[in-house]
Amino acid sequence: MKKVLLTALIIMMALPLFAGGQQEDGAIEVGSNIYSFQDNFMNGVIKPELESYSEELGLDLSIVDSEGQQAKLNDQVDVFITKGVDVLAINLVDPASAGSIIEKAKKADIPLILFNKEATEAGIMGTYDKVWYVGTNSAESGIIQGEMMVADWNANPDWDKNGDGTVQYVLLKGEPGHPDAEARTTYSVKAFTDAGIGVEQLALEADPNWSTTHGNDKTAAWLTSSFGNDIEIIICNNDGMAFGAINALKAANVVLPVYGVDALTQALQHIADGEMNGTVLNDGVNQARATLDLAKNAAMGSDAVAGTDWVLDTDGTKAVRVPYVAVTPENYKDFF
Ligand code: BGC
Ligand code: CA
Repeated sequence: MKKVLLTALIIMMALPLFAGGQQEDGAIEVGSNIYSFQDNFMNGVIKPELESYSEELGLDLSIVDSEGQQAKLNDQVDVFITKGVDVLAINLVDPASAGSIIEKAKKADIPLILFNKEATEAGIMGTYDKVWYVGTNSAESGIIQGEMMVADWNANPDWDKNGDGTVQYVLLKGEPGHPDAEARTTYSVKAFTDAGIGVEQLALEADPNWSTTHGNDKTAAWLTSSFGNDIEIIICNNDGMAFGAINALKAANVVLPVYGVDALTQALQHIADGEMNGTVLNDGVNQARATLDLAKNAAMGSDAVAGTDWVLDTDGTKAVRVPYVAVTPENYKDFF
């Protein structure tokens, strides 16, 4: 009888734990997604680090593919909540749709870490005390890329093909409305004007998938267009699109300066081969680590950055911002 009672008591005590989603072995369950498994940076850098670092931290992580559809992500979050995960680590598909995800997490009282795509709706982070963001200072990548281009432009007078003192550029933008795409577009070009160099945009194309195929197709079309011979520089807001631009240049037997962002291994190789002039390290490894450090702390009810070196912005964005680093032909070997 005593034994039966004890068993019943143990089951009763364990129930709230299971209801709260914790595994029998006590591991914290993290429900996570990548906005699209097709994305070079997200799939090649962030996802593998989330997987390996979650093992290191002893977290039970599930990562699903949102296939570039915000509606799909909304459903995936519902499933995670029903399953009773302890914390959500979410890569928004649409940065303007953070509100619905925050609302869901808040209703279920589950902490939420947003990463890589910063919410664009003003004040939205203040609507829930258990939501944080992990990413970068988007403008910084544009500034660094721009400064790199200005230095190279000044060092290579022959890049000004028509000798008009103005940079005739084309730009592969990435996802419209994505804070990284928007800020990089603004700040990379601003570096030229800040340095007193004129700019003329010959073409700009956006692509929600930031893809190599898009970079290839657009560059190929530009090279054969009426302004094809006027292009002096190709600015790419990520490496994935730059790889496409490089393919198209090779196919057309044209050499032009190409710059990217992310510092993917393939970009380092293109720099080594003299096919790319620079990129900016987007430190996905540390972004993934910060995401899970915050997730673990939040799931345990601790201060989000307790026991870590991460620093939270105090300007209402509740963000950990991992720094960008310039990667040039001089220092690329340090990043392999
Ligand atoms: C990266 C891009 C990536 C995008 C996805 C950016 O920070 O630089 O390569 O496609 O994030 O959201
Ligand atoms: Ca010129």
